[in-house]
Parts: sequence; structure tokens; C-alpha cells
Amino acid sequence: MAKIAIDRSRSGGTISRYIYGHFAEHLGRCIYGGIFVGKDSAIPNVNGMRKDVVAAMKALNMPVLRWPGGCFADEYHWRDGIGPQSARKRMVNTNWGGVVEDNSFGTHEFLELCRQVGCEPYITGNVGSGTVREMSEWVEYLNSDGDSTVVQERWANGRKDAWGVKFWGVGNESWGCGGNMRPEYYADTYRRYQGFCRQYGENKLYKIACGPSDADTAWTEVLMKNAAFCMDGLSLHSYTIPGGWSHKNSATEFTKDDYFETLAIAADMERKIRLHAAIMDRYDPEKRIGLIVDEWGNWFEVEPGTNPGFLYQQNTMRDAMVAAIHFDLFNRCCDRVFMANIAQTVNVLQAIILTEGDRMVLTPTYHVFDLYKAHMDARQLDCYIEAEKTGNEKYAVSSVTASASEKDGTITLTLSNLDPDREQEVEIALRDEAIAGAKGRILSGKMDAYNDFENAPIAIREYTGFTIKDGRVATTLPPCSVAEITL
Ligand code: AHR
Repeated sequence: MAKIAIDRSRSGGTISRYIYGHFAEHLGRCIYGGIFVGKDSAIPNVNGMRKDVVAAMKALNMPVLRWPGGCFADEYHWRDGIGPQSARKRMVNTNWGGVVEDNSFGTHEFLELCRQVGCEPYITGNVGSGTVREMSEWVEYLNSDGDSTVVQERWANGRKDAWGVKFWGVGNESWGCGGNMRPEYYADTYRRYQGFCRQYGENKLYKIACGPSDADTAWTEVLMKNAAFCMDGLSLHSYTIPGGWSHKNSATEFTKDDYFETLAIAADMERKIRLHAAIMDRYDPEKRIGLIVDEWGNWFEVEPGTNPGFLYQQNTMRDAMVAAIHFDLFNRCCDRVFMANIAQTVNVLQAIILTEGDRMVLTPTYHVFDLYKAHMDARQLDCYIEAEKTGNEKYAVSSVTASASEKDGTITLTLSNLDPDREQEVEIALRDEAIAGAKGRILSGKMDAYNDFENAPIAIREYTGFTIKDGRVATTLPPCSVAEITL
């Protein structure tokens, strides 16, 4: 039997709602087809945005959406994406599939999408192939109300008021696709670019420097040493890639060993975060600077027959378990992790939504976001877990992962049984208090079960499979399941 003890007297602070953030790049069918179909499409839309997809995004209380990339961001020139759509410059998306990008989705469209979804925008500016002036003027175009030529251009394009964009990334993966820079060079470049990203009016830019990949602590050290004073956030990119780049897994046809490897890599994210956080603590003991995990998720082989540059993959219960592992560890590290953005929203990598023509399906990962919604802006509670391991000789993780928080007197516990075969009996206790009542929701299925356009068996169900005795909750979680229990 596994045991979970929640301690209301111990908290790492508030779980930032931005931990449940998203990322949409000009990549494959994420923006085009997945979100944006244009006003003249037969697919029901509002100002070109798919109604079904926007409604699904909205239902998650999506807090923030990162755009336009990814690697695409460092090739993107924002002026190509404003003004009449028919006159916009066409370019080849050299990062992703070599397709023609007609720039019909640009600044105004992105901010219209955020308006419809009700989320905050997070824009990544171009450092790799863009100029300081270009970035500076983009911020001015977005946020200034002054009567300058740049602002007049915005007015002429139909937008009177400044949008007041807050989250601002200065380059993406500047150690790789964003310019292959050394950390010393990037730190200086960051200092220069961010200096010309001005503050306008009441709006205060939250400036995010490009941070490390995976466990590259040397990058973090140099950035914190040289540029901490002028950053609000430092990004971290870390994907779960079982088999590595050369032997990526199929998203749907995988073995139990693949499953355990995937879970172990996902769980290792906590070690990486703590490594970087320890360095950040030395330069920023007050924890003013947020760690922004702005790309995370499973990266598998593309679906057979699809463009390899489009990164389209199915999404199974394995993905759901990986999402739950990440959220629990992000919640635990909420004293440093301020934002996290799963890659990516629609039709790309660990997508929450898949589309095909006018059809849409919600993936198991989508449902995990739904189950974790209550943690947003709640007070994190320490939660002690005693459980057996699940795995093989090489890869093993705790069979139970969980996290807890409290808001308005209600405690939310999210917990998962990561074992693919065995049920898990769990006893849940509140330290020094008796639990009076509980209700729950659950997602479960075989590790390789998924939803497609014909059949969508994976959905959240009401969960009543527990009893309360002596102030403790006793429950038996099915194999491969994620539950939310409200106490
Ligand atoms: O999310 C796909 C790509 O992965 C992004 O464009 C890039 O930043 C990362 O390498």
C-alpha cells in the first residue's frame, strides 16, 4: 500500500498559474490549420480562429501562450506579418518542413487569438537574425501609446490601443538554432537587446533570457553571473526523448521498457530544475528571477506518412503520465519555477489537441491539464509519498506521483498510479487533521490507449472509488491513471 501525507503547515509558496502554460509555433499544422484557418474557411471560425479549438483552449483556463517559436522565432521578422494579409511577404520556413509561410498569421492575429482564449501573450523576439532596432520597434508597436511613426503604423493597421504585452523572450535556444552562441557572447547580446526593449506606460515587460538546455549548468552559471541584474526570467528547454534523437520511439507502438524509460526521463526533470535552481539561488537568493520551462514534453517519431518536419505525433496514456509527472514536480519546485509551456498546443509534439480538416480531438494530455486546473494560483502544500517503485532493471520511478495545494479552504490532491499493470492501494492523510469528505475525477486507460478522430475512449470520469475511515481516505487507483481528489 502507498501512503500520502499532506502537511498543511508546510508550503513552498504559490503555484504560479503560468506553470500551466502553452506554446504554439509556426511549425507544421500548429498555427495553420490547427488554430488559424482564415476568415474565408468553411471551418467555423471567428476572425480566422477555429471555434472548436479556441473553445477547448479556453476551457482549460489557459493562462499564457508562447509564440511565434521556437526556432522559427529567430527567423521571424515581425514586419512581414502586419498590414493587409494579401500583401504580406512570403518566406520559406527553413526550420520546419521547408513550406511556404505566407505570414497571414502575424502580430494582430496572435493577439486576437489570445483575446479569444482569454490568455496572456508571451512573445519571443528575434536575436539570431534580427536587429536590436527590429526588436525594439516590435515592443514599441505592441506597447506604446506615443504618437510615433511606429505607433501610427499600428493605428493604420486597425489597432488603436497598445496591447500591453508583458512576457518577452530575448531569443530562443541561442546556444543552438537561435545563433549557436557561446554563453558569454549570448549574455552580452542579451544585455544589449533587452536594454532597448523599453517599458511603456503602466505595462512592465517581464524579460526572459535564453537559458540552458537540459542539465547545461555552465550556461546557467554564465548567464546568472553576467546578466541576472537585467532579467526577470531564465528559460529552460528539456524534452523527454526515449531512445534519444537517433532512435526515437513511436508515439503509439512502444514496449513496456520504452514506457519505463519515458517516465524515468520525465521524472529526471526535477533533478535538472534543482541543479539550475541551486545556481540561481547563489546569484538571486531572493528568488526574484523565475525559471521559465518554456519547452517541455515528449518528442517521438512522427506519425508514419506525415512530413518529418511537421513533428506530428499521436498522444497516449503514456503522454498523460508524463504530463502528470511534470506538473507534480513543477508544483513542488514552485518557489523557482514561474512558468512552463508544453510543446506544443495543436498537432505538434505532445499536443493537447489534434485536428484533421474540420475534425478535432482532445488528447489524454489535454485531460491532465484539466485535472490539474485547481492548482493554478493555489498555495502549494508539502506532500510526502511512500510507494513502491515501478519499472525494470534500468529505469524505475515511484509508482505514485502526487502534489497538493490549497485554495479557498479546499485542498486539491492530484495523484497518479504510474504502474502500467497493477492497481495501487493508496491511503491519504492530512497531518494533524481528519479528512471529512472527498470527491474526485479520474483519467485511466492502457498505457498505449489514445483518442483519434473515429474513437475517443480516453476521457475524464467522475471518481467515487474511495472510502473515508478514521479521517483518512483509502482508494485503489487503476493502473496507468491520473486522479484529482478534492478534500
Ligand atoms: O518545439 C520544437 C522545437 O524544439 C523548437 O522550435 C525549438 O526551440 C526546440 O528545439
